[in-house]
Amino acid sequence: MAKTKSVYVCQNCGNDSPKWIGKCPSCGEWNTYVEEIISKESKQSIQLAGIQVTKEKPVLISQVETTEESRIDTHSGELNRVLGGGLVPGSLVLIGGEPGIGKSTLVLQVVLNIRNKKILYISGEESVKQIKLRAERLNPDVADCYVVSETSLEQIFVHISNINPDLVVVDSIQTVSTETIESSPGSVSQVRECAAALLKYCKSSGIPVLLIGHINKEGSIAGPKVLEHIVDTVLQFEGDQHYMYRILRAIKNRFGSTAELGIFEMQHNGLREVNNPSELLLSQNHEGLSGVAIASAVEGIRPFLIEVQSLVSSAAYGTPQRSSTGFDLRRLNMLLDVLEKRVGFKLAQKDVFLNIAGGIKVNDPAIDLAVISAILSSNVDIAIEKHVCMAGEVGLSGEIRPINRIEQRIREAEKLGFTKMIIPNFDLKGLNLGNINMEIIRVKKVEEAFRVLFKK
Ligand code: TYD
Ligand code: MG
Repeated sequence: MAKTKSVYVCQNCGNDSPKWIGKCPSCGEWNTYVEEIISKESKQSIQLAGIQVTKEKPVLISQVETTEESRIDTHSGELNRVLGGGLVPGSLVLIGGEPGIGKSTLVLQVVLNIRNKKILYISGEESVKQIKLRAERLNPDVADCYVVSETSLEQIFVHISNINPDLVVVDSIQTVSTETIESSPGSVSQVRECAAALLKYCKSSGIPVLLIGHINKEGSIAGPKVLEHIVDTVLQFEGDQHYMYRILRAIKNRFGSTAELGIFEMQHNGLREVNNPSELLLSQNHEGLSGVAIASAVEGIRPFLIEVQSLVSSAAYGTPQRSSTGFDLRRLNMLLDVLEKRVGFKLAQKDVFLNIAGGIKVNDPAIDLAVISAILSSNVDIAIEKHVCMAGEVGLSGEIRPINRIEQRIREAEKLGFTKMIIPNFDLKGLNLGNINMEIIRVKKVEEAFRVLFKK
């Protein structure tokens, strides 16, 4: 009989220990250790049914042939951009996201639009019939793909060697399990082992594999960090369940930038690409409303305009409430303290609510200026003029700090019909604003911006 051995594995970071421990010494989480049984054979490598793993020899870097590897066009402009220009042959890509956010929809829609490629879509979550029902909703052009409902890693490799696909999709890696490990599907050792086997297949065959992965409550990819280390690219699909907009972000990318962002809108017949992100804003009419400011944000290399909304009112109870959607709450608190301490607005006894319209999350610090403008606008109950937008980071002493890509931001704002833009004072040097028909106002401090906006 095979001797079995058990180890305790942290379900958060994948660290293991021969004994149970309460607090993980590696990631600091409590109560994350779970016993996992490993049979002796599991240490041997997993059989890749019929697929030869070639033995590589070291070569001189000058003699490595670089045939320009052509990337696979996914026929989705947004996905291509986030991947860094298409899918790299032999790469292992992980798409993570909360349940129900639309990962399966995104991937199925993409593979159904790729033509002249043999695609194998392996689902451990849905039956073939359910996949077909979904595909009918998505109404793809013509392309086809092989589907199979399978959770055994060994069987997956059998299907792969039978079909010989050009692209493999595994929905989701947490449902796949190998017989060599006795722990249940989704546990760290199963996820790690299965992903490692798929990685080996990717690298030796040159066939790209797309993995779908779940995200746990804390927002990291379940079963873990280990998985993020194994794969070449980690994409995160996020958005608010109550809004239709979805954002695809690269968190790690060995073949491209991680600054890129893809925007989609969930519709009844699948995801629609949002090629012009400023449309998130243009659908709204906020004329004459106080507490609304338009920020010019840049994600990746694309500028777009977003609406920041705020509500400031006297706190009904002792402790004022601060709440924020789409913007970091700690940063909001910091900005409020700057307003209080450096600029002299009495906000300590006020409730402050902040919301980035459309349910999107923006990391660009240049939206600070719009955040404080929205707060001040609500506080004094004066609306900010229509066709005014702004960009600027706010520093701890209330100064407006320079930001990047200012020219692009100005051009985007002009394109969308804005007539006035407030920017940091430092930015105009070496800038070519020859044919801009917009009033550009440069400010050094929060007070100046306040005067520009609210004192006629
Ligand atoms: P799904 O792709 O199943 O999510 P995940 O794989 O990330 O768990 O998407 C589920 C949601 O998407 C579901 O709540 C319904 C919605 N949806 C649409 O709005 N339109 C569509 O055409 C499809 C297929 C799904
Ligand atoms: Mg799914």
